[in-house]
Amino acid sequence: MCGIVGYIGENRALPVLIEGLKRLEYRGYDSAGIAYLKDGKLEIKKCKGRLACLDPMVANETIDSHVGIGHTRWATHGEPNEINAHPHMSFQSKIAIIHNGIIENYMRLKDWLIEEEGVEFKSETDTEVIAHLIEYFYEGDLLDAVYKTIDKMEGAYALGVIAKDEPDKIIAVRKDSPLIVGLGKDGNYLASDIPALLQYTRNMYLIENDEVVVLTKDSITIYDELKRIVERDVFEVTWDIESAEKEGFEHFTIKEIFEQPKGIYETLNRRLEKTNTINLDGIKITKENLEKINKVYIVACGTAYHAGLIGKFAIEKFAKIPVTVDVASEFRYRDPFVDENTLFIAVSQSGETIDTLSALREAKRKGARILSIVNVVGSSVARDSDDVFYTWAGPEIGVASTKAYTTQLIAMYLIALQMAKTVGKIEEVYYQEIIEELKKLPEKVQQILDNEEQIKQLADTQFNNEHVFFIGRSVDYDTALEASLKLKEISYINSFAIQAGELKHGTIALVEKDTLVMTIATQSKLFGKVLSNIKEVKARGAHVVAIAQKSNQEILKVADEVIFIPDTMDEVAPILSIVPMQLFAYYVSLARGNDVDKPRNLAKSVTVE
Ligand code: G6P
Repeated sequence: MCGIVGYIGENRALPVLIEGLKRLEYRGYDSAGIAYLKDGKLEIKKCKGRLACLDPMVANETIDSHVGIGHTRWATHGEPNEINAHPHMSFQSKIAIIHNGIIENYMRLKDWLIEEEGVEFKSETDTEVIAHLIEYFYEGDLLDAVYKTIDKMEGAYALGVIAKDEPDKIIAVRKDSPLIVGLGKDGNYLASDIPALLQYTRNMYLIENDEVVVLTKDSITIYDELKRIVERDVFEVTWDIESAEKEGFEHFTIKEIFEQPKGIYETLNRRLEKTNTINLDGIKITKENLEKINKVYIVACGTAYHAGLIGKFAIEKFAKIPVTVDVASEFRYRDPFVDENTLFIAVSQSGETIDTLSALREAKRKGARILSIVNVVGSSVARDSDDVFYTWAGPEIGVASTKAYTTQLIAMYLIALQMAKTVGKIEEVYYQEIIEELKKLPEKVQQILDNEEQIKQLADTQFNNEHVFFIGRSVDYDTALEASLKLKEISYINSFAIQAGELKHGTIALVEKDTLVMTIATQSKLFGKVLSNIKEVKARGAHVVAIAQKSNQEILKVADEVIFIPDTMDEVAPILSIVPMQLFAYYVSLARGNDVDKPRNLAKSVTVE
């Protein structure tokens, strides 16, 4: 959710903090702040709004500080304002902290600090309690005070702590919120995420749960929960900083939409042999494993959940194994039927979504085998899984997930096909046909992107709608769900998806003159049925835009407008049909003057429940 960063070293800390925060702003952007040590004193500067609100406070000063922490916030406790912005200071101004996560027992701790110690709280945040507690426990040893504090805390947190009386160090802590530490030549760093540090170093330590790190300008020491020193291998980041930059595109979102041919190609290519066999090295989908499995759960959130729905379609269609798909925040509290004969597939771009991570841990506790589909290498979901299928989308910065989704679909198809082959449920000819079609997808996605202008024009005429419906049947309904989510996330238009056949059971009451009904109609065996549904809404005055395969010219007779995708096998059509819908959401958002990359109220990586 929030982004945290810290630096201690030879260089001036403030520019490092601000640069780092710029790359973390996608994690939250309702307020920002920094704290640093200067002339033996802790200073804090913070403000409401985007990171740029800090500029006037730091621009004209050459603040000579070499240790500091910074934060960009996504509000959970207390509205976004200057007081609730991080960093937070302790009651005698000895400790400053930044926090990403939620302290679940903060009310109890707060009451105790007020009653016993007479501490005056300034903010409404859960975080402030941590600063006061550390100072309360401080008796000349910051590390000791941090350990005593976290012992009292329940919840999720990544923390950065600096202290007036120990200016030679930053302490960082991780529990269920992401944290990495960077080893630089002129100092050391901490951050929520790799892009924040890439301009300074490629060498990182991935910090594990319950670990505490002491950073000085020339050392990094990692401790476990019992304060024993932990040895950790350096993780070298191999991707370039350029891939986390806009490269001439106006927004990350459109850049990432256009990167899909590459992401799909890479994700396929790393798993396909020349002979068209799928190489799932490192993932144990053995006959023996699969024969034991009597249940498959796919669990995820948001866009990744929609990839899971298509995954269900692919696994059931190819491997004939029944699959249940659930949103992670529901799964945990359902008391699901999970045991050692369950295959649990977690899908997550970031690999840090707390709902997905908690669901995964719950399934693991119950004995399930965990396979994850993840984009971020070394992320928490990846580390907690038995097997990982990495997607090769590259870093995704835009809050609305696009290239992560299409690469997740590729992963799902490859896993489904491999399962099918392993259990002997798929004919070789059919298997080969699908693989050949998958290989053509990068080129076909490119053709859709080349048709950008038609979609832009559609968006320019439809951006003022108050609500939009997305309809489809079977996998086209799954695509409709994702298309609708994309539109609402970045355009703020009230949109929703419904199964085309279900419309008549209530929702059609909402259709009136000029209601925009986006219809996904890529499945030949359902085509006649969808045509009837189009006619039903048209009879009530709807304006229908259909997405169909190119050879399906018949649809021109019923829909008001048609966006054609290249012809493909119906089974893999979801990988193509979502692309024009992503472009549509992007151009509608642009036409409405929204901040496409950072839509209101949302965050890219949701590390609170
Ligand atoms: C947030 C993002 C969504 C994303 C979801 C799951 O809500 O705004 O775009 O789909 O989290 O994220 P994950 O990283 O687990 O795929």
